[in-house]
Amino acid sequence: MEPPVGHERNADQIAYWNGPGGQRWRDRQAAQDILLAPVSRALIERIGPKGGDRVIDVGCGCGATSIALAERVVPSGFVLGVDISAPMLARARELAPTGLPLDFVLADATVHPFEAAGFDHLVSRFGVMFFAEPVVSFANLRRALRATGRVTFACWREPRDNPWAMAPLQAVYRHVPKLPPQGPEDPGPFAFASQERVQGILNEAGYRNVAMERVDLVLDIAIGRGLEAAVQSALEIGPASRALEGHPAEVREAAKQSVRDLLAPLVKGESVPLSGSIWIVTARVT
Ligand SMILES: C[S@@+](CC[C@H](N)C(=O)[O-])C[C@H]1O[C@@H](n2cnc3c(N)ncnc32)[C@H](O)[C@@H]1O
Repeated sequence: MEPPVGHERNADQIAYWNGPGGQRWRDRQAAQDILLAPVSRALIERIGPKGGDRVIDVGCGCGATSIALAERVVPSGFVLGVDISAPMLARARELAPTGLPLDFVLADATVHPFEAAGFDHLVSRFGVMFFAEPVVSFANLRRALRATGRVTFACWREPRDNPWAMAPLQAVYRHVPKLPPQGPEDPGPFAFASQERVQGILNEAGYRNVAMERVDLVLDIAIGRGLEAAVQSALEIGPASRALEGHPAEVREAAKQSVRDLLAPLVKGESVPLSGSIWIVTARVT
């Protein structure tokens, strides 16, 4: 499947999620969905899906949230997962049980011509922080919602509140150059950390009653499979994986040992619990 043509300013993200980033998420899908289960639980509780709801899952990736929601909106509801990543959407289509009211579309949410006023709820698990022009994206998505429509999504808070991502990165930095500095508004996992920024984007895109709830989490990066699984997760997800991209095997091996040294003292049984912190953002169309 060819990558979609999207907003010109999203070209880098389209390349990334159809290249190494998307491949890694697709290959790690099962582990990733276990790791992020605490996020899904918190998010779905806030969404409160019910039979008949029509939902858009933005940046649905390999489809875990879309599938969980489709199971809850039966029989008359519907879930549309939208994503720019061909490899991740292919995985979502493989995983989706037949018979659910669920479809996926390979498209940039910024420009996709959604059915106007066709949906009740816009949701996302970490799929909205990669828009280069977030006001344009959220305004486009707002047109897909009914006047009674709601928004509920999860995004990461500041890097300092997310040791699951930053501690392995510091260990990796002993071996590779630092990633190019990210501006606070550059697309990326932490682009929605600022409460003020998120409020501003959603208000400018026309939403009302924007609220942000801090939810602190414990993420078992070993997913119950011991130290080596935790080391593998640490190297394959988050900014540490980006920092290691393109480096030779011996450098990766040395970085791996530093990550192992970091995580070994944190092992509890077969788990390696690290803390994380997210916002659950809610808003209304009117
Ligand atoms: C961190 S992943 C999260 C995936 C999935 N929601 C999950 O929790 O497993 C971010 C996702 O957002 C998607 N994405 C980024 N920009 C997008 C855009 N403009 N339109 C649609 N999807 C986008 C990426 O392709 C990727 O699948």
